[in-house]
Amino acid sequence: MRSFWNLLPKPIKILAPMEDVTDTVFRRIVARSGRPDVFFTEFTNTDGLCSAGRAAVIHRLQFTEAERPIVAQIWGNNPERYFRSAKDLAALGFDGIDINMGCPVKKIVKNGSCSALIENRALAKELILAAKEGAGALPVSVKTRLGFRRVDTEAWAAHILEQKPAVLTMHGRIASDMSDVPARWDEIGKVVALRDAMGSDALVVGNGDVESLDDLHAKAERFGVDGVMVGRGIFQNIFFFDPTRRGANPPAAERIAMLRGHIDLYRATWGPEKNFEVMKKFVKIYVAGFEGAARLRGELMESGGYGEIEERLEEWAAAQPQGARG
Ligand SMILES: Cc1cc2nc3c(=O)[nH]c(=O)nc-3n(C[C@H](O)[C@H](O)[C@H](O)COP(=O)(O)O)c2cc1C
Repeated sequence: MRSFWNLLPKPIKILAPMEDVTDTVFRRIVARSGRPDVFFTEFTNTDGLCSAGRAAVIHRLQFTEAERPIVAQIWGNNPERYFRSAKDLAALGFDGIDINMGCPVKKIVKNGSCSALIENRALAKELILAAKEGAGALPVSVKTRLGFRRVDTEAWAAHILEQKPAVLTMHGRIASDMSDVPARWDEIGKVVALRDAMGSDALVVGNGDVESLDDLHAKAERFGVDGVMVGRGIFQNIFFFDPTRRGANPPAAERIAMLRGHIDLYRATWGPEKNFEVMKKFVKIYVAGFEGAARLRGELMESGGYGEIEERLEEWAAAQPQGARG
């Protein structure tokens, strides 16, 4: 089934789903800082979506038109809830649905979800088929790892490809690696060869340790993937996807102005709903790479509320030489 995925220029550049990071606020900021081709939501629990707990998870699915195409990522272990969630997500206007089969967090694995599905292939199949049935015309994709306790790339990827997902995103690590070893891109390359040998029309996306836009293009070329997904690279450079910046470090005044813009949008969007401590994690993305950044960052991280952060940023701006205030 063809979808928006097939219309994008290659290599398709994707901002990875990252819990407590890639919410609608951060995605909107990235969308105006040299946008990727596709955005993903944070992973959202299908049990939550299908229960009275819906109100507690629905914020993860908030998005604006600026973030399209946008794919909702879900997780869980119950096919019936995948079916209902997929229907729900289609009605909410998403462009695609992605199933998380890669998260290695212990309590999630214990409950038989995410990377645990690498070891439960019958259920993995049922979940993909249930999501596809509920999704109607929306493309369903899968994001996973090379194996659970051992590298099992080809057998596992073949099993997923047999269920005909629109896209298979392979993070080049096994679940028990967590994020502690370098991503194995040679294994991701094997998925491309396997897809071709199977005559599958799924797109293959590689993920793991992509450091810059140049690195993204080099990896796409070398390993033949249709797309590349970037997670932590965006922490080093908010303009990661902007080809005109080529990794150039934005001046301090621009970074601080962006942080202030981020805080304003965060407050306007979430009000007191979302934790101030979660917002503070974004400080390190902006307050880095200029003289005095470490000290300012330390002070901001110590602050106890929005007012304190704003006051400190005001002071910082006032102390800059005229031309640098931006
Ligand atoms: C803070 C954080 C939160 C994450 N949350 C999710 C998530 O909700 N869903 C998911 O599939 N992967 C999640 N991941 C994994 C990333 O999507 C990505 O696969 C991983 O970071 C490797 O890519 P990278 O080396 O480009 O960061 C998360 C990673 C980080 C660092």
